[in-house]
Amino acid sequence: MSAERAAHAGEPGRTGAGEPGGLAVVTTKSDLAARRDAMPGTVAVVMTMGALHDGHAALLAAARRRADHVIVTIFVNPLQFGPTEDFDRYPRTLDADLAVCRQHDVDLVFAPERAEMYPHGEPAVRVNPGPLGEVLEGASRPGFFHGVLTVVLKLLHLTRPHLAFFGEKDYQQMILVRQMVADLDLPVEVVGVPIVREPDGLALSSRNRYLSAEERAAALSLSAALRAGAAAAERGLGADGALAAARAAFSAGTPGEPGQPAEGAVAKLDYLVLTGPDLGPPPTHGPGRLLVAAWVGATRLIDNAPVRL
Ligand code: PAF
Repeated sequence: MSAERAAHAGEPGRTGAGEPGGLAVVTTKSDLAARRDAMPGTVAVVMTMGALHDGHAALLAAARRRADHVIVTIFVNPLQFGPTEDFDRYPRTLDADLAVCRQHDVDLVFAPERAEMYPHGEPAVRVNPGPLGEVLEGASRPGFFHGVLTVVLKLLHLTRPHLAFFGEKDYQQMILVRQMVADLDLPVEVVGVPIVREPDGLALSSRNRYLSAEERAAALSLSAALRAGAAAAERGLGADGALAAARAAFSAGTPGEPGQPAEGAVAKLDYLVLTGPDLGPPPTHGPGRLLVAAWVGATRLIDNAPVRL
């Protein structure tokens, strides 16, 4: 066990919601099970990989409003990182994360080590996300959603929540978790929580901390594209018009594109798509979703927004 985890494991628990006296931190499945057994009423889980920011805080606050007990899981899941991805450099900030959990009156944190979650090494059996797992993020990150759904399913079994809160920032993940819950008859309600943004529009993400000032400026292309697309849809320009407006706004914010300085960090578009709210084909009328992914330097960013056609 890492020194940081060891320092927190076994911190005192509490017996009821809203009661002062501390957050319980456990690192083993058996301690989690014992704490979970002692939770009467409605239980919510917020699953995280740590590096908590205000986007996570919104999840914690939403969970706290609906449940008698809130469990947070903190685990950087190796299964969802590709060989060239940032597993080793992914931020690990347990002390700061626990402070955020305390501020939001979380009851229990489950922060296992890799060997506790995967005692026999990487699992041979994984959840297959189906066709939706192969497109958008799944196309750029093969195996990503297999890894996500596998750990989400394990954490649902281990925490046995009535409610599970997921951020709309990872929209495809949230939809796939909902599909898994429906397809496998899991007894949990998946609750989506809207994206939290900086005042200039940048969606909060644990990966934003990798961005230099120049890259952060380039990253604004993503939210600018979404705003322009949503506004065009509102004006009645249809799916094609919304996409064209979004693409133009993305390029306008990117150095090197027409009208922009040649120097500076560049947001390199991976995809910009308009879909239905469940990520199916876009409707001709009614609600849709605009989703974007881009590379800014070595950092891959995603964002999305609702649109009304
Ligand atoms: O969204 C995340 O942080 C992760 O994908 C999750 C749901 C905690 C699974 O590792």
